[in-house]
Amino acid sequence: MKRILILGVGGFIGSSLAAAILKRTDWEIYGMDLTSGKLDPRVKANPRFHFNAGDITICREWLENQVRLADVVLPLVAVATPNSYVTDPLRVFELDFEANLPIVRWCAKYHKHLIFPSTSEVYGCCSEPEFNELTSQLVTGPIREERWIYSSCKQLMDRLIYGYGCHKDLKFTLFRPFNWFGPNLDQIVDERSNQELMNSSRVVTQFISAVQHGCSLRLVDGGKQRRCFTYIDDGIEALLKIIENHNGCAEQQIFNIGNPDNDCSIERLAEHILTLALDYPKVSEGLARARVVPVVAKEFYADGYADVDHRVPSIEQARTRLAWTPKVKLLDGLRLTLDSYWDR
Ligand code: UGA
Repeated sequence: MKRILILGVGGFIGSSLAAAILKRTDWEIYGMDLTSGKLDPRVKANPRFHFNAGDITICREWLENQVRLADVVLPLVAVATPNSYVTDPLRVFELDFEANLPIVRWCAKYHKHLIFPSTSEVYGCCSEPEFNELTSQLVTGPIREERWIYSSCKQLMDRLIYGYGCHKDLKFTLFRPFNWFGPNLDQIVDERSNQELMNSSRVVTQFISAVQHGCSLRLVDGGKQRRCFTYIDDGIEALLKIIENHNGCAEQQIFNIGNPDNDCSIERLAEHILTLALDYPKVSEGLARARVVPVVAKEFYADGYADVDHRVPSIEQARTRLAWTPKVKLLDGLRLTLDSYWDR
C-alpha cells in the first residue's frame, strides 16, 4: 500500500488520476486543492480518499507534514493556459515555480519520490522533428515574448530537481504531458456573456465552447501549427506506471508522455470537432451558427505571444522503461470528450 500526496487533486490531471488510483490500486490518497468540483462523487466518498480544501501557497504546515508522511508526492498545481502566460506572467512564476519550490525541497529533505509535471513546452520552438528527453535542445525566444515564462519556469524547475537528484539523493521522475485532453480539461465558456474568460482555455475546450454556444472557432494565424493530442486515459496509465515504479524503472528519469500518432494541425482539429458535433442533437443550434475564422495571434492573445509550429514527442523512454504506449486515437478521444459534455 502506498500513500500518495496529490496537490491540485481537483484539477484535470489530479481528478482523473485520483479516480484511477482508487479504482485500480489499494493506495491511499491525500489531496489538496482550492475546490473539488471536478472530482467524481465516488472519489469523494471513498474512504481511501482524503481531501483538504486549501491553497498550497498558504497551508505550509499541513503540506510539510503531508510530504513527511507520504511515499510519493505529485505537485500538480500550476497555471497551464497560454493566455495566462502573456496576461499574467508573474502569477505563472509565483505559482508554477515559487509555490512549488518548498515542496521539492521537502521531498529532498524527507527522501520522498517526487513526480513532477514538466511540460512539452520546455522544448519550445526546437526545430528537431521529434523531441527527445535526453538530447533535444530547449529553445525559447527573446524576453519580450512573455509566452516563454511558463517554459522557462518549468525548465528551471526541471534543472533544479535534476540537481537535487544528482547531488542530494532526491528520488524524482519528471513527466512531460504533450497536449493531454479529455473531459474536464478546462471550463466551457460562453464568451458572449463572459468576455473576461475569452481565450482562457486550451484549444480543444476552446473549440468545444465555440460549438456549444454558436461562436467562432478561431484559428490562430490560420491554424497550420500542429500538436500531438494525447487522451487523458493514456496519460493516466503512464502516471500509474510511474507511481508504481516497478524495480525503480521511473527513478531519476524524464518521460515524454504524448501520442505521436495523433499529430494534427489546429485547422484539422476544428474540422474534426465540427464533424463529430453533428452526432449531438444537444448542440445542433450552436453548431448551425459556429464558423471557422482565422485570427492574428497577437490580437487573439497579446503582444507577448509566440507559437510553436510542431511538437512531436519521442516516446522511446516511456516505451522501454515503463512498457507504456498510448492507445486512444484522436477521433476516439474527441468523441469521449464530447460525450462527457453533450451526452447523446
Ligand atoms: C499547451 C499549454 O502551454 C500547456 O497546457 C501545456 O503544458 C502544453 O501546451 C501541453 O499540453 O503540451 P499549446 O499547445 O500552445 O500549449 O496550447 P493550446 O492552447 O491548446 O493551443 C494549441 C494551438 O492552438 C496553439 O498554436 C494556439 O495558438 C492554437 N489555438 C488555440 C487556436 O488556433 N485557437 C484557439 O482558440 C486556441
